[in-house]
Amino acid sequence: MILNVLAVGDVVGDAGVEYLDRHLRALKKLKDIHFAVVNGENASGVGILPRQARAIFDAGADVITLGNHTWNRIQIADFLEDNRDILRPANYTSRVPGRGWGVYDGPNGLRIGVINLIGRCEMDSNFDNPFTVASRILRDMDADVVLVDFHAEATSEKGAMAYYLDGRAQALWGTHTHVPTADAQVLEKGLGFITDLGMTGPVRSVLGIKPEQAINRFLGGLPQRFEPAPGPCKLESVVFSIDTDRRRCVGVERVDLGE
Ligand SMILES: [Fe+2]
Repeated sequence: MILNVLAVGDVVGDAGVEYLDRHLRALKKLKDIHFAVVNGENASGVGILPRQARAIFDAGADVITLGNHTWNRIQIADFLEDNRDILRPANYTSRVPGRGWGVYDGPNGLRIGVINLIGRCEMDSNFDNPFTVASRILRDMDADVVLVDFHAEATSEKGAMAYYLDGRAQALWGTHTHVPTADAQVLEKGLGFITDLGMTGPVRSVLGIKPEQAINRFLGGLPQRFEPAPGPCKLESVVFSIDTDRRRCVGVERVDLGE
């Protein structure tokens, strides 16, 4: 069959969560989506609260992935332990709550594997090598289709990971930079790839936060707690169409909504 997977860019703030709630169901229907993965690590600005994770599931996400802000709202720790449908990056160096990958039930008995990884370029925490961790997970994982959210800053690291996993995974998308890229493609061995999905949240913002706060930071002002910007929202996402018999991605389509 052709499995349509929707990957939704980082949801920013409660306004982003509400926008997702208003549009995700219709978008899934419109694009005949079988499985949706939403990056939720900025649902609380930085981090995600259990109520926001529940709202993202209620909006229609099958799996939530996270990133470098996972522990900014430590209230999520127990939720990560209790709920296997939310993933934090798999390559934390130390023992942390939750899990970094899972295998989920898809249509027609398909087993859909999802891996959440984090990059090491320009990231401020200690992480294991995401490349070797990905290889280790793929050796253990028993899945028909493998999807990867690589939460990373550097375009080079994301591109290298795509070529590294080509033939072993069917879709890999970048998150974290919140800016959609125009390089949707299918690599030689069938991996669908895009460097960054973009974000779901305030349009008039710098990566989702109030522009004046970003300006203040670059002018050298005192640190402030970043707040999501007010105003209309957008949703940026990508549909990966995967031929499950051939284990190849056959289409990568950007789908962006805005008001
Ligand atoms: Fe991030």
